[in-house]
Amino acid sequence: MKAKLETSKPRAPRIPEGKKHAPGKCLMSRRQFLLTSGVATATVMVVVNAGTPFAKEVPGVVATYPRKLVAKLSALKQDEPLEFAYPDGGMYAESIVVKLGVPAGGGIGPGRDVVAFNNFCTHQGGDLAGTYKGDTKSLGACPLHLSTYDLTRHGILISGQAYQSLPQVLLELDGDNIYAVGVFGLIFGRFDNLQG
Ligand code: FES
Repeated sequence: MKAKLETSKPRAPRIPEGKKHAPGKCLMSRRQFLLTSGVATATVMVVVNAGTPFAKEVPGVVATYPRKLVAKLSALKQDEPLEFAYPDGGMYAESIVVKLGVPAGGGIGPGRDVVAFNNFCTHQGGDLAGTYKGDTKSLGACPLHLSTYDLTRHGILISGQAYQSLPQVLLELDGDNIYAVGVFGLIFGRFDNLQG
């Protein structure tokens, strides 16, 4: 079945009016999230109190990242990022995929130069949309405290207040289709990337 591209839809407001970021609250229940996000879940048996007389198996739910079509390789132009949401449509899911024109850590395609990253600063959630710089292959400076991230080196911090790299969206190439298949690093505002 063919997946539907969602890269060209208009951006919806992501943070409340008048706030620079909205830390904290998940806006949907775990059940709503699992029903709407496309996240795959499986029930597995987990041993608790292993090695003790109280050892027993209990059911546990494991969530896995969805495989989502985010762009066509042939449609990417160097240094022109495209936006998409991943791993769901919830808070802080906005991300970019960009063809850097130079090889990069985690890069896909013939030039190993296509990478994707979450679009929110790991410091306090500053919105990095529109801050990509083609001359330095970086994202930033963050509008809040100026953190800047190197997209050729897995989103490592170049300068600023943050102390964690930008979460990198893991990509797979299948023909001309680019799929997001996971996230390396914790997305700002989430205690678990798959649970909002
Ligand atoms: S929120 Fe980006 S540097 Fe503080």
